[in-house]
Amino acid sequence: MDDAWALTEPAFDVAHAKAYEGLFTLGSGYLHVRGSLEEHLHDAPQNADYMRRPTNTTAEKFPEPKVKWGAFVPGVYGNHPLLNQEMVNLPYFLELTPYVDGEKLDMEASAVEAYRRTLHLDTAALTRSLRWQTRHGAAVAVRFERFISAARPHLCLQRITLESDRDITVELHAGIDTDVRTSGYDHLRDVMLTPLGENGVACNLVTDYGDAAHIVTRIYAGAAERAYVDAGRAARWIIQAPLTAGEPVEIEKRTAVATSQDAEAVNPIALLVESEALSYEALYAEHAAVWRARWEQTDVVIEGDAAAQLKLRAALYHLMRAHPGDSRCAIGPKGYAGDAYRGCYFWDTEIYMLPFFLYTDPARARMLTDFRIHTLPGAQANAARYGYEGAKYPWESDRAGNECCAQWQYADHEVHVTADVVYGMAHYARAAGDAGYLRGPAAPVILEAARYWMQRLNRRAGDQHFSLLGVMGPDEYAPLTNNNSYTNRMVVFALETASEVAAAAHEHEMFKQLAGALPIVGTEDGLVLQCEDFEAFAEPEFDAFWPDRDKPFAAQVSQERLYRTKALKQADVILLMMLFPHEFSAEEIRLAWDYYLPLTTHDSSLSAGVHAVVAARLGLMDEAVQFWQRSLDLDTDVTHGGASEGIHVAAAGLNWQIVVFGFGGVHTAMQADVLTLTPRLPANWTRLAFPFVWKGAPLYVDIRPGAVHIANRGSRPLDVRVGDRAATIPAGDAVTLESRHGSSST
Ligand code: BGC
Repeated sequence: MDDAWALTEPAFDVAHAKAYEGLFTLGSGYLHVRGSLEEHLHDAPQNADYMRRPTNTTAEKFPEPKVKWGAFVPGVYGNHPLLNQEMVNLPYFLELTPYVDGEKLDMEASAVEAYRRTLHLDTAALTRSLRWQTRHGAAVAVRFERFISAARPHLCLQRITLESDRDITVELHAGIDTDVRTSGYDHLRDVMLTPLGENGVACNLVTDYGDAAHIVTRIYAGAAERAYVDAGRAARWIIQAPLTAGEPVEIEKRTAVATSQDAEAVNPIALLVESEALSYEALYAEHAAVWRARWEQTDVVIEGDAAAQLKLRAALYHLMRAHPGDSRCAIGPKGYAGDAYRGCYFWDTEIYMLPFFLYTDPARARMLTDFRIHTLPGAQANAARYGYEGAKYPWESDRAGNECCAQWQYADHEVHVTADVVYGMAHYARAAGDAGYLRGPAAPVILEAARYWMQRLNRRAGDQHFSLLGVMGPDEYAPLTNNNSYTNRMVVFALETASEVAAAAHEHEMFKQLAGALPIVGTEDGLVLQCEDFEAFAEPEFDAFWPDRDKPFAAQVSQERLYRTKALKQADVILLMMLFPHEFSAEEIRLAWDYYLPLTTHDSSLSAGVHAVVAARLGLMDEAVQFWQRSLDLDTDVTHGGASEGIHVAAAGLNWQIVVFGFGGVHTAMQADVLTLTPRLPANWTRLAFPFVWKGAPLYVDIRPGAVHIANRGSRPLDVRVGDRAATIPAGDAVTLESRHGSSST
């Protein structure tokens, strides 16, 4: 096995079980399942009723101390008891539990040796092997394998291989458990579990929102004796599998999932029957081939830091897995690997995740930007609720564009999302070279958003300019500020884009005029201020109020302290400078860096990655590497909770941006029309290489200290710049250009 592709849990520790469960989530885009243990743990009920309060979506202690099952199909909803909709945790269908002489295999209670669980990032498959010393003296080698087929996205394939050192009978329990909760709430209604032939269980249900799910599972255990057991909310087959000493026995379980949200009606039983023509190996081979092709389009090679290489691949794996492959859904902040944030869609999509898809797989990027076209009616209704014309995109969106955020501060005031949506569309159009997109399918979104801004702006008495008042910027610790620089710049961008798209002359003029009349506030010595009143906030006094730096600042102080001090949750001005670097001098960026960094708590997982990109561009390589490590560790460091609540998939998107835009120094299509690179490799890196699509041209960029090699795999010549050197690469050809900043000596 190549360790650069394998994330491994070397031993079972219940303290980290939930973190691995999130980190080892498998998915086909359509169907996602957390990395739960097939046999589950004792004393870890999954049907406890509780309320995850909307005021604390991620940090709340909730009563599944050990593990948390999760099976998700993007866009399948239940009614939230307090809010609108939430993504539903579907029934648990992974069960494959061996018993020997009445003893259940249990990672906590059983005598288990040689445990090893591995997520194979190259083939998106999970394997676990162990030796089980049963109480009655048998030594049983157990191997679990599973994958969700990328070739048949509705299908989950599992296999268990058992081998004993003596003749025994293994009793295997395998079925579907519908007694599950979504954040402590039971959304499943009309649950029907029925036997299917001699080896299957069929489950039909409707959520309390009215979405239907059909789950069919079959266990392939040859001629072994079996019985169907109806256990109320669960149903399973109990199989008696005789093992002869030294002879391995394989048993398979195949599950197909279909829902009323499917783009085309799918018959899960037919899918299973169809799959029966193929062996596990054949199904695995077609699945692995899809992933091989995905990795050819995306893999980033880092030489000189093996740990970072592996962690980055984990990030790319989850980005690819989480993409629903359907423009009726986007990607929520937990990447369909947990029910926190209730599966809602945030600006995370446009700003943090989209670039990875834009520059590796533009067709998939387009699905994400098209999601906002599908949800325009919701955004229009949302604007109307506030008494505005046009479209106001929700801070937390469901599949229809409804606002699902319970907290007024964000829902009412974190308005930048409506501009971020337009930025994402423009980024797609420029990166993909799809000039018609903005004037074509995206135009209604861009114009409706601009109509909303027209009414949202104020002109205060005595001012020559317009203002955006009562705004929360990306830094959510400053809730009601005026002229937030990030938001203003984004709105200017959105209005400029609208003026280019507007067909009506009066709108064209009006949008243009407004765009020119919104300030970016700053001090006389060139410091860009987060907002007009920023300097009037109190000092945060971290030394006095933030004793434990391992825990978020917000967990140690009251909200009102956050709101009246200069403490920042995440990069705000620094993010502005990450997205519009060409509009600020290096001195201005450095000034902002020095001013805001001591005030920034990085309580948001989105903060470290943004700082890493900007630090790399500033040539602050030590800081860049530290922030990059911090961002990389968010999911992979299981000792700090890691992905317990789901994958930090926006940070995963940033991890790609750090290497490509930060260390690789690629200028985005929002910065430059000609592909331009100013690489700065961390000191110990000897190579950074990645495929990259620039305006439709597939390229391969290979950076070594002092030199950049670019292969043009497209059909047209391509102009490139590396530092101050320029070249034209003929189609099918390559160039190597010297790069002054190819490595860093700091
Ligand atoms: C961040 C937001 C982000 C959300 C979802 C919050 O903690 O402050 O910027 O959109 O998490 O990731």
